[in-house]
Amino acid sequence: MSEIETLLEVKDLYVNYKSYWYIYKVLNGVSLKISKGEKIGILGESGAGKTTLLKSILGILPPQGRIVKGDILYKGRSLIHDKKYLNEVRRSSIGMIFQDPLASLNPVFTVKEHLLDVLKVVYKDHNYKESDLISIATELLKEVMLPDVERVLNSYPFQLSGGMRQRVVIAMALASAKELLLADEPTTNLDVTIQDQILRLIERLVNEKNLSLILVSHALGLLFRMVNTLYVMYGGEIIEYGDARKILKEPLHPYTKMLLISAPRLTSSKIGEGIKGNPPDYRNPPSGCRFHPRCPFAMDICKKEKPKLIRIGPDHYVACHLYSTSDLEKTGSGI
Ligand SMILES: Nc1ncnc2c1ncn2[C@@H]1O[C@H](COP(=O)(O)OP(=O)(O)OP(=O)(O)O)[C@@H](O)[C@H]1O
Ligand SMILES: [Mg+2]
Repeated sequence: MSEIETLLEVKDLYVNYKSYWYIYKVLNGVSLKISKGEKIGILGESGAGKTTLLKSILGILPPQGRIVKGDILYKGRSLIHDKKYLNEVRRSSIGMIFQDPLASLNPVFTVKEHLLDVLKVVYKDHNYKESDLISIATELLKEVMLPDVERVLNSYPFQLSGGMRQRVVIAMALASAKELLLADEPTTNLDVTIQDQILRLIERLVNEKNLSLILVSHALGLLFRMVNTLYVMYGGEIIEYGDARKILKEPLHPYTKMLLISAPRLTSSKIGEGIKGNPPDYRNPPSGCRFHPRCPFAMDICKKEKPKLIRIGPDHYVACHLYSTSDLEKTGSGI
């Protein structure tokens, strides 16, 4: 991983959700780092905590969610402890494409109203007239390759196809993503035929604008092609990370291996069977390694001790007791 100008650093992050009866201990010491221009991918089963991580970065956890420990730094300054800085970064540096595009669009507002809402915040320090903002909105819609921009601007979300709506959502994210784009499974709920177009659009925009990217996706081909570094999450923890191609070709953690085997492949008509067992119950997560109840290789130590991320190769870290630590460099949080 390159050490040139760290853009974002998540340091040993713990996030809980609280309900009336229970505390769900979801993120359990997550660390990651992204440098300028770097593209990272996050892979993990449903419930692994991927969306929780992205929402923590932007400071938009639901009211039940709380960061209980750790820090998130953007260009070295805390986003958690400095709300003014967080707002500034959210306005002009980081943009997010949400997992559920429909939830990002309000059915009673037109596309123009949506974009103007965002642009008024992004350009609040400029003395732009509404006509200037409409020109910017028009440019953004052109960038996401929407045809007949005039018509789209005056349409309500229900008047657009799923693919067109997702392009609008991407345009809204681009308005503030001047440096870093967070894309949370950006093709969920889209037709398979459209998924590839949308992913290629995101890929092109990120490259053209030289954005850094955190991409949550199950599209292994895309991750292989597009991201430099891959983080694998299980049960609210990073259990393996490093060079994306290396991990996708030669995963080390039993969970990553099982996850990649169970992923449906384009070359096969067989749908993957998934990994046996259930993700951890966050109210009372397993002791030691959170994966041990589902791991075919679990040993005694796995129930007792949480494995640390250790360096296995030049750009490959894994948190698993199967890998001896004697001749490897211990890295603590792994970063
Ligand atoms: N508001 C909430 N209150 C309680 N628990 C929550 C809340 N939001 C999320 N969770 C729990 O946190 C865990 C992680 O959820 P999260 O949405 O971050 O997972 P994910 O990896 O994004 O999953 P998916 O792939 O399905 O999107 C899940 O067990 C989820 O039920
Ligand atoms: Mg999610």
